[in-house]
Amino acid sequence: MALVHGGQLQQVAKQYNIPTQDWLDLSTGIAPISYPIPPIPNSAWQQLPQHNVDLVNAAKHYYQCSELVVTNGSQAIIKALPTLYQQQNPNSKHVYLPERGYKEHAQAWKVAGYKLHFYQDSLPELTQLPVNCVVVIINPNNPTGQFFKLELISQYHCALKKLNGLLVVDEAFIDVMPTEQSYCTLANDNYVLVLRSFGKFFGLAGIRIGFLVANEHWCNTFKELLGPWQVNNPAQIIAEQALVDTNWQKTQKAKLNELTTAQVEMFRQVFTDYILLDIKGCDLFLTLSFKQPTTAKQLYHLLCQQAVYCRLADEQDTLRFGIVTTDSIKRLEKALQLACAQITYLKPYNLIAL
Ligand SMILES: Cc1ncc(COP(=O)(O)O)c(C=O)c1O
Repeated sequence: MALVHGGQLQQVAKQYNIPTQDWLDLSTGIAPISYPIPPIPNSAWQQLPQHNVDLVNAAKHYYQCSELVVTNGSQAIIKALPTLYQQQNPNSKHVYLPERGYKEHAQAWKVAGYKLHFYQDSLPELTQLPVNCVVVIINPNNPTGQFFKLELISQYHCALKKLNGLLVVDEAFIDVMPTEQSYCTLANDNYVLVLRSFGKFFGLAGIRIGFLVANEHWCNTFKELLGPWQVNNPAQIIAEQALVDTNWQKTQKAKLNELTTAQVEMFRQVFTDYILLDIKGCDLFLTLSFKQPTTAKQLYHLLCQQAVYCRLADEQDTLRFGIVTTDSIKRLEKALQLACAQITYLKPYNLIAL
């Protein structure tokens, strides 16, 4: 069954009977500022995509690695990996995943017949990992924002090597974190894969390009599996330029941090301590948890009625907001104020406070 994701605006717009162009869509963790699209030569549209050495070199430099595969988004690897790994290591039966996290991972391992084990805030006990197992770490996690240090991830890498297992590090949102925290530089044996998403930080999820950072064996295996023409020429041209544009990257990082700080401040002003429990996330999204279990669902509905679309967790207890631009923050603030005033069960709380 298809999973629910952010970015399903058409469906939500239809549900609330509001034209799509009227919505403020904050339902994904895609940067609200996009890398400017360079001119695309006609030949890029006309010809079949070739192996692009310049793109590969730009990506190797940006991701600080010696081998990688260019893919049609990191999702392509997430979907293909379990069956492939099962063929390579038929004794592998168990996978450890974050209980809250991008659900496509769990779905893919489940389809391949794996037994799923979910961990919560801390990674599974090293001593309890069985031989041939797989550990998936989403760093930083979407939607919880939880971030594991490189040193800790490295312990899991070492352990999985001894256990003949596999470590998968999904770094879809790591571009906004300190560069030295990425595991890409250490993805150099058969026991680790790192996934990088291009669309989020560069604000261009629609062009569908991503990268697998791994050793030569894994890269060759995936190249063979995925076949030619994974990524169209225009996407390759855009990514190549964006990955070498260090000035734009620096500005983007600073801008996202500035916008995130303003958004957190606004959230804290709008929500009283009686409503809000916590704000977590990174500079690409913010996840809000609440003191009462039904608040998230109510707020989601009240915001949708005002054409503001955020992501209600599958568990229905948190809301994830993409980062809002300076132009739109007032609109979000007003919608939240109105929504807060309409949450029905807040009244008893307010009375207690009085
Ligand atoms: C944690 C995580 N990993 C991977 C992906 C897949 O992204 P893409 O295929 O655009 O690289 C997503 C998409 O939202 C995600 O949230």
